[in-house]
Amino acid sequence: MVAKELRTDEIMHRWGGRILVTGSTGFLGSRIVRAYEKRCQVFAPGHQEMDICHMDSVRAYMGKVRPEIAVHCAAISDTLWCQEHPEESERINVEGTEYMARVCEDLGTKLIFCSSDQIYFGSGGMNPHKENEEVSPAGAYGRQKLEAEKRCVRFCPDSVSLRLCWMYDSERLLEKEHGNFLTAFLQALDEEREMTYPIYDYRGITDVRLVVENLGKAFGLPGGIYNFGSENDYNMYETVYRLLEKLGYSTERLKENKAAFAGNPRNIRVHTGKAEAFGIEFPKTLERLVECVGNSRPLL
Ligand SMILES: NC(=O)c1ccc[n+]([C@@H]2O[C@H](COP(=O)([O-])OP(=O)(O)OC[C@H]3O[C@@H](n4cnc5c(N)ncnc54)[C@H](OP(=O)(O)O)[C@@H]3O)[C@@H](O)[C@H]2O)c1
Repeated sequence: MVAKELRTDEIMHRWGGRILVTGSTGFLGSRIVRAYEKRCQVFAPGHQEMDICHMDSVRAYMGKVRPEIAVHCAAISDTLWCQEHPEESERINVEGTEYMARVCEDLGTKLIFCSSDQIYFGSGGMNPHKENEEVSPAGAYGRQKLEAEKRCVRFCPDSVSLRLCWMYDSERLLEKEHGNFLTAFLQALDEEREMTYPIYDYRGITDVRLVVENLGKAFGLPGGIYNFGSENDYNMYETVYRLLEKLGYSTERLKENKAAFAGNPRNIRVHTGKAEAFGIEFPKTLERLVECVGNSRPLL
């Protein structure tokens, strides 16, 4: 298949009427609602209006608003909580996604499912991962996301699953939001605190604003699974080391965490060629971080 480069304005013109966002009180969902309500009619039901753990509730709400697109962000995204509560988290992360897929298929709604790069945790090799690799996720959250993707394919073949990377924003949108990679980094910088990052941890870290922006193009993707975030050439320690260096800050306060993932490095880096073939591009982790920090702090 020759991939067609997607243009956001064309896609919004084609699809741009009614969009439903689940998990709209979360980190990503709240930013999607804020960005797209200017251009489309956005439905953002809370638990009371649409409980994704109940098929009848999903069917009733979706049947009423009949969205053309559903961006499914609702999930238990805390990996530790999923590990400790596998059954409860499975109900939301897997069964909830299956209900969304079934109802979207029945209504002809294009489903965009927010999956995760944690699917690659446990895969061997140190190269960035491609979507068609055999995977065997090491954690409960990754296993749930993989199973949810499979149900999307089975029950809604035209659905698009986006394997998102760890996301950050310099701005805190909601009171309840915890910090993220960038806010933690900036805080440590301001307080002149020591920073410690693992040397055996390889992952892409992505500006959430680019995810929101590129989502418009994802609406036009053919059904399938896509890595959707920034590639990163470095481990976590090297990423921060280079970030400090490029910004002109001393690297003396940065320490190596040699214990995390020692003997069995975690590599969940993504290869983004598949999405790029459709004109969906993300700058590399370091490049974008330098830009973001540079915009919020004077370069030394
Ligand atoms: N953040 C990341 O770095 C990251 C990275 C990779 C993938 N992802 C995936 O991207 C998606 C969005 O992540 P996020 O960081 O925005 O997550 P989040 O901040 O934890 O938000 C999760 C949302 O899901 C809602 N929710 C939970 N259980 C629900 C239920 N039973 N019915 C309806 N809504 C329910 C929550 O509502 P309440 O607050 O009202 O409970 C909240 O709005 C998730 O699927 C996550 O797994 C995130």
